[in-house]
Amino acid sequence: MAWDAEPAAASPRVCCQLQEDEAAAVHRTARLRGLCLGQLGNMRPIQENGELRIESRLDKIIEPLREKIRDLEKSFIQKYSPVKFLSEKDCKRILVTGGMGFVGSYLMDKLMMDGHKVTVVDNFFMGRKRNMEHWIGHENFELINHDMLEQLSIEVDQIYHLASPASPPSYMYNPFKTLKTNTVGTLNMLGLAK
Ligand SMILES: NC(=O)c1ccc[n+]([C@@H]2O[C@H](COP(=O)([O-])OP(=O)(O)OC[C@H]3O[C@@H](n4cnc5c(N)ncnc54)[C@H](O)[C@@H]3O)[C@@H](O)[C@H]2O)c1
Repeated sequence: MAWDAEPAAASPRVCCQLQEDEAAAVHRTARLRGLCLGQLGNMRPIQENGELRIESRLDKIIEPLREKIRDLEKSFIQKYSPVKFLSEKDCKRILVTGGMGFVGSYLMDKLMMDGHKVTVVDNFFMGRKRNMEHWIGHENFELINHDMLEQLSIEVDQIYHLASPASPPSYMYNPFKTLKTNTVGTLNMLGLAK
């Protein structure tokens, strides 16, 4: 039955057919709606189950990561060598230049364990980080990345000046820099000690 047919011109049989078609259409729509509503009603528990499943999956992924973070945090808690307690009168502020090097790092260890406040100045040219990393974060320890050719303003009680490219490969790498470090660097430290 065409939708644009004129109802007034339709015969009683046609009208009846039209009513049947309308009823069928309404019935179909209602069935479809009912189906959809039914489906939505059934979907809720499925969705809730899905969310629960996703949450439990996420927990499974996140838990090992949490454990890793806990392990990392534990490994970052530094255990320092025992340090003597000195009264304010006896505790000195000590500057060690070249403190990341061979001689400087042993001296720095000794001064730290004796309870002094130690400032290490080094330009990281030859020094090794592992020579002093066991003191990083200690309240008595400070590391300054500085080249001895530049002036340094710092308040200290004692100075140990060991910054020098001492080994043959280092001083031959740049002989002029070596000469300058040993002369200008030493003059700068003498100026600070004045
Ligand atoms: N190693 C020995 O057996 C020995 C013996 C006698 C004297 N010394 C003297 O002791 C001093 C240190 O010797 P070392 O064996 O510890 O040397 P090293 O090379 O191990 O340490 C020297 C440190 O000085 C730093 N440095 C170099 N130039 C610098 C600059 N311009 N500014 C800041 N830091 C700088 C380096 O990065 C390094 O950490 C040197 O003057 C050396 O002649 C060493």
